Amino acid sequence: MIVLAIETACDDTAVAIVRDGHDVMSNVVLTETIAHERFGGIVPELAARAQLELLTPAIEQALADASVKLHQIDALAVNNRHGLLRSITVGVAAAKALSLALNIPLMPIHHIEGHIYSAIIENPTMPWPHVCLTVAGGHNLLLQANSHGEYQLLGRTLDDAAGEVYDKLARRLGLGFPGGPKVDKLAAKGNPTAFDLPRPMIGDGTCDFSFSGLKTAVTRLLDDLEEASQPIPVEDIAASFQAAVVDVLVAKVLVAMRKVSASVVTVTGGVSANSGLRSRLSEMASHHDFEAFFPSLRYCTDNAAMIACAAHYRGIEHAVGTNEGLDASSNAPLGELGVLYSSKKQRGQ
Ligand code: KG4
Ligand code: ZN
Repeated sequence: MIVLAIETACDDTAVAIVRDGHDVMSNVVLTETIAHERFGGIVPELAARAQLELLTPAIEQALADASVKLHQIDALAVNNRHGLLRSITVGVAAAKALSLALNIPLMPIHHIEGHIYSAIIENPTMPWPHVCLTVAGGHNLLLQANSHGEYQLLGRTLDDAAGEVYDKLARRLGLGFPGGPKVDKLAAKGNPTAFDLPRPMIGDGTCDFSFSGLKTAVTRLLDDLEEASQPIPVEDIAASFQAAVVDVLVAKVLVAMRKVSASVVTVTGGVSANSGLRSRLSEMASHHDFEAFFPSLRYCTDNAAMIACAAHYRGIEHAVGTNEGLDASSNAPLGELGVLYSSKKQRGQ
């Protein structure tokens, strides 16, 4: 079955064509960063306007890259949950129009479920249960993934997501947007022990996170250096900041791995592209006798292949109807009360 998937949660316009959940025939991500660079962060209105312009070219490019014609698409999948409402609405409206025009089924997918499946695209034999750390700009969760469509929340951030704090630091340092990759690059050249930054909630034994104290601490550090007219050691600040974030993320994964009898943790979402996190967690995993699985970089940040893969396991081959009543929501929990998500309960949405 050939699925065309659309993902427009944030500032990216992503379209993928995927056969049978794993054969990624094309994976297009178009991003309009110029406006966001100017403002040092995502401006929701500008993101949605750009997506309105970029979605048709992205669909055309995805079809061309896959050497597939529109009439060969068997079904559609779209993120209709989690992200910026105007942005998701652009993707959902396009998916509904295509569904009606082609008279093929359309399946809604939660953005975070998509990120969970970004680790499964390339690894269909992923063992269950496994732990999933999913960290991006808009979410920061630890989940126990019991089986396809069955996830239990272990912990989440009580305030900021790690990616958001990376973006804020980059903005303050004038590095542009998105900040994560830029801070990551600078961190590789700096001294991670140059500044002693807090590791909030690191030893509390829970799987919850808090990054706002770290954000305040690094902001105060920069304020103090500026006030004293001292040069800003950007690389050392980036390295010290990254060390604090990675220490917390790794410590929380270790807590989760102790709670869940699992042999694998998957790490997904934009921050899973972080070089410091990838190397430290891999090292800790081999030390503690479990496996840390990171998707390829193209599947770490937002993409539509992960939406198609999730749709495959939610049974898109059995989906019927064009789903013209499909809604969009910016902040829907992953399942009832945000605690347990069961695809069975949500079928027919
Ligand atoms: O998954 P994603 O594309 O969108 C959301 O769901 O939020 O993640 C984007 C986030 C941004 O905050 C970006 O700065 C961060 O992921 N990010 C990184 C890196 N690459 C992307 N953070 C740290 N290090 C990176 N290499
Ligand atoms: Zn995302």
